[in-house]
Amino acid sequence: MTQTLHLGQTLEFTSNPFETGPDAARHRARGAVLVDAGRIIAVDEAEALRAAHPGAKIEDHGTHLILPGFVDAHTHYPQTAMIASWGKRLIDWLNSYTFPEEMRFADPAYASDIAGRYLDLLLANGTTSVCSYCTIHPASVDAFFKAAEARGMRVFAGKTCMDRNAPEGLRDTPQSAYDDSLALLQRWHGRGRASYVITPRFSPTSTPEQLSALGALWAEHPDCLMQTHLSEQTDEIAWVKGLFPQARDYLDTYEAHGLLGANGLYGHAIHLEPRERDRLREVDAALIHCPTSNTFIGSGLFDMDGLTRAGHRVGLATDTGGGSSFSMLRTMAASYEIGQLRGRPLHPSELIWLATVGSARALRVDDRIGQLAAGFEADLTIVDLCSTPAIAQRSARAADIWEALFPTIMMGDDRAIVQTYVAGRAAKA
Ligand code: GUN
Ligand code: ZN
Repeated sequence: MTQTLHLGQTLEFTSNPFETGPDAARHRARGAVLVDAGRIIAVDEAEALRAAHPGAKIEDHGTHLILPGFVDAHTHYPQTAMIASWGKRLIDWLNSYTFPEEMRFADPAYASDIAGRYLDLLLANGTTSVCSYCTIHPASVDAFFKAAEARGMRVFAGKTCMDRNAPEGLRDTPQSAYDDSLALLQRWHGRGRASYVITPRFSPTSTPEQLSALGALWAEHPDCLMQTHLSEQTDEIAWVKGLFPQARDYLDTYEAHGLLGANGLYGHAIHLEPRERDRLREVDAALIHCPTSNTFIGSGLFDMDGLTRAGHRVGLATDTGGGSSFSMLRTMAASYEIGQLRGRPLHPSELIWLATVGSARALRVDDRIGQLAAGFEADLTIVDLCSTPAIAQRSARAADIWEALFPTIMMGDDRAIVQTYVAGRAAKA
């Protein structure tokens, strides 16, 4: 396979901007990324790589910015067709909109149709990797992994398990949740770029017996990630307290059943008690921030500053369709706005880092995706920093790359994504 040399502006992170500030990133105004057989071979000045690799095929992206593909660390692909449903908070929103839609995934053809539609929307928005919930139907998991395999994407997903407080037709049992999850794990985990994620939806929709069964499965397959929801809304927390009267707090409902660990992904994590913060930090679990969802469903303001200062691993996510967008640009903008409401505006370097390295760290794949660096998989997003007249007139005044990029973070959408490469191949539909 011939080598390809992508020319454009580049951004590389040499450290974590939450720890070292914007100098964590190196910007090249005329940089290049050399790709061979789906991997990044080198990142350097354009002239240096052109001279060293005269036989490489040139893809000249002009003044566009070459970024690693965005990584969306928490989403529900089955909610694609009911995104932006009006007027409800979490529990009513689940019952009114989410569960009826998820019921439709009993039909494998519908699941395939939505899985393909969803992944094409992601690629159009510059997202190359995603960690998704499916529905309780095993075929919804097969549909998702097949659609991702056809596109060559590195993805994470699992069968959503629920055995109570969900309608007939959307409930499994402790035993069937274990058996179906195990069969799917054996079919998909480590196949190509797929990883299976053990997925109890959240404590209100699982009996203690089901949580224990999935805790046992995780103990038997500790290299798998486990994803769930934690402390998203105050009504939800009160409900959990009623359902688990012995639990010390919400996190304890997972901890007591073997569902707290370093490979755990805890979505939302907004209203945490001090003990919960300490335990999550102690075990080095990942917290997934879902800002458009937190404002759309009215959940609350994630404490990014406090949690990153305390050393928590934080990923960034759309949480489609509780989240109101498929775009990680829009998601970064919402995270900025939540930071403002908490008195700590995130720097563009921090926002881009969260959407790439931060989410890759949360998913434990920061050694292979999320960075422009030699040896990493060549998942790239080409971003036009002047994609609309409104953005162009603002970035024309920019004094540096951050000022040039911030208008696209705040106002950009899929029009800013010129192309997306998955393992080196152009992938935007
Ligand atoms: N908590 C349990 N299920 C869900 C879901 O589908 N979306 C969100 N935002 N929160 C949840
Ligand atoms: Zn969610």
